[in-house]
Amino acid sequence: MLGLLAVPFVLHSQPTAVFEPEGESVDATATRTQRRYAEIMRDVEDIVNDHSGMPLLELDSDHSALSLSTNTILTVTHQQTGTQHRSKLKLLVPSVANFFTPLALHDAFIWQDQRRFISMRRFVPPSFNDVRLILNTAQVMSLIRNGPLELVTFDGDVTLYDDGQSLTPENPVIPRILKLMRNGSKIGIVTAAGYTEAHKYYERLYGLLDAIYASDLPQSAKQGLIIMGGESNYCFRFDGNVPDMLKLVPKQEWLLKEMVLWEESDITALLDIAEASLRDTVKNMRMDATIVRKERAVGIIPQPGHKFCRETLEETVLIAQKILEMSEVGNRLPFCAFNGGNDVFVDIGDKSWGVLACQQFFGGIEGSKTLHVGDQFLSAGANDFKARLACTTAWIANPTETVQLLDEMVELEEIQQRKLR
Ligand code: IMP
Ligand code: MG
Repeated sequence: MLGLLAVPFVLHSQPTAVFEPEGESVDATATRTQRRYAEIMRDVEDIVNDHSGMPLLELDSDHSALSLSTNTILTVTHQQTGTQHRSKLKLLVPSVANFFTPLALHDAFIWQDQRRFISMRRFVPPSFNDVRLILNTAQVMSLIRNGPLELVTFDGDVTLYDDGQSLTPENPVIPRILKLMRNGSKIGIVTAAGYTEAHKYYERLYGLLDAIYASDLPQSAKQGLIIMGGESNYCFRFDGNVPDMLKLVPKQEWLLKEMVLWEESDITALLDIAEASLRDTVKNMRMDATIVRKERAVGIIPQPGHKFCRETLEETVLIAQKILEMSEVGNRLPFCAFNGGNDVFVDIGDKSWGVLACQQFFGGIEGSKTLHVGDQFLSAGANDFKARLACTTAWIANPTETVQLLDEMVELEEIQQRKLR
């Protein structure tokens, strides 16, 4: 998409207008450029629809259409007939997987352009961040058009609060999450942070938990919040009647049937191999690190005050990942090796299992009715990436963007409700 958008930028942006004011007006150039960008987004949307078997989304004249056209013709497409490996999109992007919903890319581009003034820019072409945010908007537009959104799962660090920090009472995400709960969405916090005791999660999340406790939400809505810790290893449910407001959910109530088959001996064997790999890298790369071994994870954390560089962290992840992939047990048991910003962890399971378990726990919510919000979506060494196997996703860069995304969803929902009236 970046490559496609670079073409109209080169051909139509007018950088000389900055020092030749008598030329074409800024608005005229921007309108022309916007039209070209928007056409490209419409074409990409069509290519995705051809692959995934999703209906085309109609655009209103004010670019704010949020409903599927009643005369939408559902064409039989590759994902529907099981031939998505032969779609044009698959030929262009071999690594592409299946889609859970259509992506309203055209409308999302117009929406973001009205806020980021992408078409107005003469010197800075459409960027990675522009495209990331357009994709997020396209995803939430589609979810809201096909609503209701039944489950929203959030990553913890960098998504809800800054790396290594806690969700404190003044965090602006709290009223937004309460609003989602009030509107009937279930909430899962699917975090790598793996603790066996409720108290540790209370310490990280007390701002949100106290706010739910104090709210006038009905009991059933309050119980619609669960924490899935250690990627997919520990499940706690909100309960205002117990200390720390979190009750451990017994494994038989939330484990997926495949997870029941995970053998303790395999878990130990996998963590042993991972630990040996981490120890080796720490020694070879002279890292000031401490090894942390847990029941369902092993990791390295920096010694106090030390910061590892990104390259070292990624090297550590990739070595551990490769060694585990080559091992027998690594083929039997899912695991997730990732760079946590200033630490590296190898966890048993991953966030696809975590999100699937949340979906099952709440009665079998579908991927097309679930949104996972996270910061780690690079394919190498990032843990939210796996959630894409279980549901739709939004890739945010910091907690402020999470708040903006939730506000955008409210705005889109209001437009949708106005259209339905
Ligand atoms: P997330 O962003 O909410 O998924 O949290 C990731 C961070 O949790 C990691 O970078 C670690 O700093 C921290 N963490 C604490 N315990 C664990 C664990 O058992 N596995 C992985 N990460 C952990
Ligand atoms: Mg994170």
